[in-house]
Amino acid sequence: MAQAAERIGQLREQLREHNHRYYVLDEPEIADADYDQLLRELEGLEAENPEFVTADSPTQRVGAEPAKQFQSVAHAMPMLSLNNCFSEDELADFDQRARKGLGKGLGKSLDTDTDSEAIEYTAEPKLDGAALNLSYRNGLLERGATRGDGSHGEDITGNARTIRNLPLKLRGKDYPDFIEVRGEVVMPRSRFAELNERLQAKDEKTYVNPRNAAAGSLRQLDSRITADRPLYLYVYGVGAHSGGELPDSHFALLQKLRDWGLPVSDLAQLVEGASGCQEYYAHMGARREKLDFEIDGCVYKVDSQAERDELGFVSRAPRWAIAHKFPAEEATTQVEDIEFQVGRTGALTPVARLQPVFVGGVTVSNATLHNIDEIQRKDVRIGDTVIVRRAGDVIPEVARVVIDKRSGNPKPVILPKTCPECGSDVERIEGEAVARCTGGLVCGAQRKEALKHFVSRRAMDIEGLGSKLIEQFVAEDSLHTPVDIYALHEHRGLLIEREGFGEQSVNNLLTSIETSKDSTLARFLFALGIREIGETMAGELASHFADLQAIESVALDYAKRIAELQQEEKSADEIDKALKDDVLRQTPNIGPRVARNLAVFFDEAGNREVIAGLIHAGVHWPQVTAKKAESQHLGGKTFVLTGTLQDWTRDEAKDRIEAAGGRVTSSVSSKTDYLVAGEAAGSKLAKAERLNVAILDQAGLEALLAAG
Ligand code: IVH
Repeated sequence: MAQAAERIGQLREQLREHNHRYYVLDEPEIADADYDQLLRELEGLEAENPEFVTADSPTQRVGAEPAKQFQSVAHAMPMLSLNNCFSEDELADFDQRARKGLGKGLGKSLDTDTDSEAIEYTAEPKLDGAALNLSYRNGLLERGATRGDGSHGEDITGNARTIRNLPLKLRGKDYPDFIEVRGEVVMPRSRFAELNERLQAKDEKTYVNPRNAAAGSLRQLDSRITADRPLYLYVYGVGAHSGGELPDSHFALLQKLRDWGLPVSDLAQLVEGASGCQEYYAHMGARREKLDFEIDGCVYKVDSQAERDELGFVSRAPRWAIAHKFPAEEATTQVEDIEFQVGRTGALTPVARLQPVFVGGVTVSNATLHNIDEIQRKDVRIGDTVIVRRAGDVIPEVARVVIDKRSGNPKPVILPKTCPECGSDVERIEGEAVARCTGGLVCGAQRKEALKHFVSRRAMDIEGLGSKLIEQFVAEDSLHTPVDIYALHEHRGLLIEREGFGEQSVNNLLTSIETSKDSTLARFLFALGIREIGETMAGELASHFADLQAIESVALDYAKRIAELQQEEKSADEIDKALKDDVLRQTPNIGPRVARNLAVFFDEAGNREVIAGLIHAGVHWPQVTAKKAESQHLGGKTFVLTGTLQDWTRDEAKDRIEAAGGRVTSSVSSKTDYLVAGEAAGSKLAKAERLNVAILDQAGLEALLAAG
């Protein structure tokens, strides 16, 4: 008993330490598998000795039974909001007011060289997520609450505990007896896309942006769902606190919070005066697109607590801080026309042709209107003046119509009855927003898009067969299905004679077609362009089933069962329900929609012919074992790729490593087993050397792969 208690204590200490190294310091010391083993040992001991389970144990992050509703709780100190500014002038005004409030000289605030009384600010990114208030008592997490109305929030402690980089227990000793720590919960852009793909596959509602996804995930009544969402916390300040001293400088406070094991963005900086803030703003603006977290501006905070106390508050916002927002990426222009574009799966997307306008750093002349329901909801008509919006790297969209500027009485847009590309009927399934051309591969537009997708980098990666060329080939009727690509070498002579082509470019094209035959099952499945089978889903199918025949056979069985149920005149919903125990539906992450799409695809003889044709042409992939990556010779090994390899692209190297069971991650840590370094390797190489990570060149990697 005492022995178990001691071991439990040891394991918790170790796990906390590793967690901190992994999530806060970004310098893990042990492999994931070893971490999991420690965690399992602890889980085992706690299961045998339930009386020792405590709320701060690292095992308590998995979520619990759903709550009925959240309790409302009072924040010990209200959570205020920030005033905004949108320009350099407004920023200067803010700085002037603060200087005045502190009785400082009103020198030219944008000329700090001669400005000895400039205010010192901590400048931080303004993270775009959901605010969280954490209370720690005696170093233990007591409560997590949403912002709510600022004075009362919702008690979401159970959900907060599942955020991996949120410490359940503070480190060190010098933290106050009680402290409220405030921060923002965010979802990385990359993981956001992945989450939506997962949700869509399960027929669940997707989120419009990472901020909504973070806020929505944080407010799940079932904390097991929150536990499954990629949430990260960054703390930026404190609320009430007692029984302990805090530094006067905010910047020093951030360092303290970091020492206590709380995650703090490393983008915070001390700056001087309004000019320092403006410089920081320009710097963050330039970095913004490259960050994995969305930010919507910068926050400047007077660094000294004494000065903050002097400045105080106006209504609900402090006089000592301001949010400097990035400009809203919106602009006004006119709709010249509305056309329907036909996509790879036949979906008709209405597109507004616009008078070109500069928004969010680029000139926009087309904007999506998503679907016919959207057009009707927004009531967009040809000739209208509209606001277009561009968020990050997403496709520009028409946000709304400026109705006051509408002249005459333009006719509302209606859905065409036939496909604008091929004249086939357009069908719209009851209850679905999307209308589709029923032409399939008869439709040139669908063929074109399917081929473009097939050759794209993350699919078969055929360089040299660009969009223009595909469009020409399809127009000339010389490319019908992907199989035809692999017969292009038979027309070498004709290709060379084409305008803008020569011996060399044809050779390059044919070589890249040849090289693409060496593929992976995941890429191949993705390349087929099955409706809603994105990269992630294709990868999951490949690793679950390991072979194409197996997928085809379960999909065909599923199709057969659908057909039988349709004979019995069951509705789509009833069919989905009746088939929930089917092998295909029992596959992790596969919902009724994906199952149906797979069934429809494989049931179509033409598609099976294309697959057979591709395999006949020589497309192949290494045999993988279902879900058995660990048993492969590089199973459990972690790789990082840097620099340019001699003959392989990074994607190629990644595919090969993964095919052998290895994992490729993006940053070097002491958990990395191998750094594969090519030409011009930079900081990753230096870090790997410092951490004693084994370093391979291409030859070394080839040897390692061959060893299996
Ligand atoms: S300070 C009194 N710092 O922006 C000071 N807020 O209205 C209160 N936010 O929802 C906030 N990043 O959650 C501060 N570095 C940062 C922030 C930040 C994001 C959010 C905050 C709140 C809103 C401010």
